[in-house]
Amino acid sequence: MTPPTGPGLTLPEGFLLGASTSAHQVEGNNVSSDWWAIENRPGTFVAERSADAADSFHRWPEDMDLLSELGFNAYRFSIEWARIEPERGRVSRAAVAHYRAMVGGALERGLAPVVTLHHFTSPRWFSELGGWASPDSAELFAAYARVATEILLPGVRHVATINEPNMIALMHALIRGAGPAAGDGAGRPTSDERTGVALDPGSVEPDATVAQALIRAHRAATAVLKAADPALQVGWTVANQVYQAEPGADVATEAYARPREDIYLEAAREDDWIGVQAYTRHRIGDEGPVPVPQGVPTTLTGWEIYPDALGEAVRHTADVVGPHVPVLVTENGIATSDDEQRIAYTTAALAGLASAMRDGIDVRGYLHWSALDNYEWGSYRPTFGLIAVDARTFARTPKPSAVWLGSLARSGRIPEGGGGPGGHPAAGSAGVGSAG
Ligand code: BGC
Repeated sequence: MTPPTGPGLTLPEGFLLGASTSAHQVEGNNVSSDWWAIENRPGTFVAERSADAADSFHRWPEDMDLLSELGFNAYRFSIEWARIEPERGRVSRAAVAHYRAMVGGALERGLAPVVTLHHFTSPRWFSELGGWASPDSAELFAAYARVATEILLPGVRHVATINEPNMIALMHALIRGAGPAAGDGAGRPTSDERTGVALDPGSVEPDATVAQALIRAHRAATAVLKAADPALQVGWTVANQVYQAEPGADVATEAYARPREDIYLEAAREDDWIGVQAYTRHRIGDEGPVPVPQGVPTTLTGWEIYPDALGEAVRHTADVVGPHVPVLVTENGIATSDDEQRIAYTTAALAGLASAMRDGIDVRGYLHWSALDNYEWGSYRPTFGLIAVDARTFARTPKPSAVWLGSLARSGRIPEGGGGPGGHPAAGSAGVGSAG
């Protein structure tokens, strides 16, 4: 295990340190959702089905017990629109009660619930109407947000309307291009590992109509939530791609990044917070994205191991959104079967975060992706979890990384860089830089 180096950065009072999941990826049997329909369609592009996932629909108390025993003070999870409104206009009171119990359960255990209303999956009926591209999407989402206030209030402080709208807009374009078998929906397949097919988000233009619809839906839901309780802290989370220009490609990179990321950050300028989700970087040349060069170490999702992505994403986000909107890191992590490598990656990522905080960026939390090994949108192979889940028995086993990160949460300090390769001592000592 890699100990934090030096005294570390003392976290501000109230800093949230915890982990994240999403409903479809951990609950299991999300049968009224569009993703379930896609997974189970003949000829689907999805390699593996979600099926029972981690059975967290039933086992959430155990998940929360573990997170609080490990020392965390926050848990980000999503509530599932497809369960709450399985048919248009018909609210399942049982689903509302289920998620309300989860909010209460988190609070009882000293975990601040950070609740996402939409994490890639929509009710099947919503997708059949055209999903975000349908003319009524903002209104329909706002109506769902109104129901969600019964789950959130009282007790929840941070709520995210939509997870990674920028990926949703890309996926709309991508899935449309993948032919009729692929159908509708959202997710973030970036390689064969994740989906079993060669879907390349770098090769499609994000859908501009869907982008505008998502911004409208976010604003409509925000208005509903703030009307219910002005103290609710409402934001959304963006997939930060950490675009880096190849020599001479600054203009091309800016043009590439704007519709894929920056418009969603700009749309957050009036929000209460902005969610940063960073894993890796993307190099952009005059012709678009440059593939990860042969021999560069990658993760189980095929992404370059690049822990500096977090600090760089936080800095870019603060630049675009402005210093008045606090940042919550709502996702950061690594798909690896080598838990030492997870600790090394996270140590280095946290050092980048600490440095951004030292430079004055207002960061209010760090929520690791993911609390559990889970369904990675087409495959169970990429393991992002701090806690392992047995696929047959659903037994949970915290990994050393969970104990390590939990101990940082207890200590109220995160490691800082300095000295070692790339400024991060951990990068040389415990596996960042070796293939996963
Ligand atoms: C998503 C998660 C996903 C993670 C790792 C994010 O795009 O919000 O659902 O599992 O990245 O790929």
